[in-house]
Amino acid sequence: MAGRHLKALLAAHRDRDDLAFRRAAQAIIEEEEAKRHVVLAQDLRRLLVSGSGDRLSLSEIPLPDPPKDRDSAVPLVDVAMSDRFVGDLILNQELAHTLRELAIEVGLWGTLDAVGVPRRNRILLYGPPGCGKTSIASALAAELGRPLVTVRIDSVVSSYLGETASNLRRVMEFARSGPYVVLFDEFDSLGKDRDDPSDHGELRRVVNAMLQLIDGYTGPSIIVAATNHEQVLDNALWRRFDEVLNIPPPDHSQMTELIQRLLVGRRAENVDELAAADGLVGLPHAAGEYAVHSALRVAVADGRMHATQSDLMQGVRRAGSRRWS
Ligand SMILES: Nc1ncnc2c1ncn2[C@@H]1O[C@H](COP(=O)(O)OP(=O)(O)OP(=O)(O)O)[C@@H](O)[C@H]1O
Ligand SMILES: [Mg+2]
Repeated sequence: MAGRHLKALLAAHRDRDDLAFRRAAQAIIEEEEAKRHVVLAQDLRRLLVSGSGDRLSLSEIPLPDPPKDRDSAVPLVDVAMSDRFVGDLILNQELAHTLRELAIEVGLWGTLDAVGVPRRNRILLYGPPGCGKTSIASALAAELGRPLVTVRIDSVVSSYLGETASNLRRVMEFARSGPYVVLFDEFDSLGKDRDDPSDHGELRRVVNAMLQLIDGYTGPSIIVAATNHEQVLDNALWRRFDEVLNIPPPDHSQMTELIQRLLVGRRAENVDELAAADGLVGLPHAAGEYAVHSALRVAVADGRMHATQSDLMQGVRRAGSRRWS
């Protein structure tokens, strides 16, 4: 651990400066991560974010009943706890840093409020399918030890005029009732361009409701919207988000790392992950995952516990020959 970060940490403690303390702690965590002390870094991060190393299970967290559609009484959200952290995902450094910064910042909301600096609690994730938008929302919830509340778009969208907007209001009321990570997956279905010629008025009503609800949101939850059709989003929506993050496909070294991680303890000797990544250039993380799972299935069917290079390359070919978007 670099002496200067330790000095900064102790000085912050002496001065009771929470912001400086968290900055120094984050620098120490990032340093441990760079040294590949992954477990230590994750433990430190959990301590910093939650103030305690213990994680709550869903049953220990008092949750109000999920909001329901008035007509069908179907729940409008799903609630789950996640144990896949940001460090468990393969992300570029900048993105991983921003996500951790966002998680740590939640502990500083009180201070930010006091000095009149707006919180960042409305986040838009956009990018091609299978590159981790849903996984990122879930990892953010895990980092914060908060429940992930996923909005069920199929339940929210009602055939009754005006009822979709009412459902959205119910969901946002729920988001105000406690500290969650609320995920609007497939956000484009609610935030389509209002000038869409196929619209009959209801779409305009829904998008206007969404604009108002996001604009006026000041509750304790983090709202995450995710889309892989960013080109159809209404122009007015973009600036309503405090952070807009592009989630790209993995580059060659990220794909290699993804394959390595998924094969840990299950690879035969002489497996060449670099060569496998060569065959997956431009494809999403989901394709790398699929290639490895295919290889492991072949190995298991063959009565082996470890995948060989030939299994892996077969998986890569399968991943390359199917459609991903
Ligand atoms: N960055 C990542 N690191 C590790 N695994 C990933 C990553 N991104 C995606 N995956 C894996 O790929 C699969 C798809 O990921 P996910 O559902 O998060 O993608 P998405 O961007 O939400 O896709 P879509 O746009 O289709 O909803 C998951 O099984 C996930 O484990
Ligand atoms: Mg998704």
